Amino acid sequence: MQTKRRPIVAGNWKMNTTLGEGRDLAAALCRPLDALGGVEAVLCPPFISLAAIRETLAGASVSLGAQNCHYEPKGAFTGEVSPVMLADLGCRYVILGHSERRAHLGETDALVNRKVRAALAHGLTPIVCVGEDLAQQDAGQTEGVVASQVQAALEHLSGDDVAGMVIAYEPLWAIGTGRPASAEQAGATIGVIRRIVAGVAGEGPAGAVRLQYGGSVTPDNAPELFGQPEIDGALVGGASLKVTDFIAICTAAHMGAG
Ligand code: PGA
Repeated sequence: MQTKRRPIVAGNWKMNTTLGEGRDLAAALCRPLDALGGVEAVLCPPFISLAAIRETLAGASVSLGAQNCHYEPKGAFTGEVSPVMLADLGCRYVILGHSERRAHLGETDALVNRKVRAALAHGLTPIVCVGEDLAQQDAGQTEGVVASQVQAALEHLSGDDVAGMVIAYEPLWAIGTGRPASAEQAGATIGVIRRIVAGVAGEGPAGAVRLQYGGSVTPDNAPELFGQPEIDGALVGGASLKVTDFIAICTAAHMGAG
């Protein structure tokens, strides 16, 4: 089944920007991104800036997202932020299972699935990150790695839940390295991910779920990436902190959607 999927480009600011810097960045991006009707743009600032940036984006069609959440709605979890709090702040999206959290903070597939279910239960749309590292790629294990990550992330979800969510394919060797996957490579693995989703949730949800590529996306490589039929957008790190670059990447997705 083929569904028309609206491209989605999310800016993952990671642990960058003070409150003032974040406000300035969002203010500079807001109007130009709002004008790109064909693409959904999402800004994912640090937790501490979410409330201020919601104000900056008021009235614009740019969405707000967080970079992580806990799986419980509230309780004795010092330092954590719950999906209820994020929804209350006006977040629509939450990035879950980013490789930096898997690698540095010990997030497992089971934990990511728990967070995905909690996010959905509280009205947030997860952007779930999957991807292989360099050794796994060299060993020809890419498909197996992403299959097990995707299957684990989607456990216990309904077809409707899967249809509405976003999965970002981010090969670890491409993140922050300036060495992106080629468009063909990214398109092929993302095609594999869509087939894995079909196996888990059925053809309907697989045709609807939006699949992003992430890892050293720039204005230069974005048009070719978005030219791949299976790629529905991008998760952008470094380039999302640069006003002209992020607008150019979103514009490329908007043109590709035309
Ligand atoms: P990058 O990061 O665009 O800086 O490679 C992408 C990501 O980690 O989401």
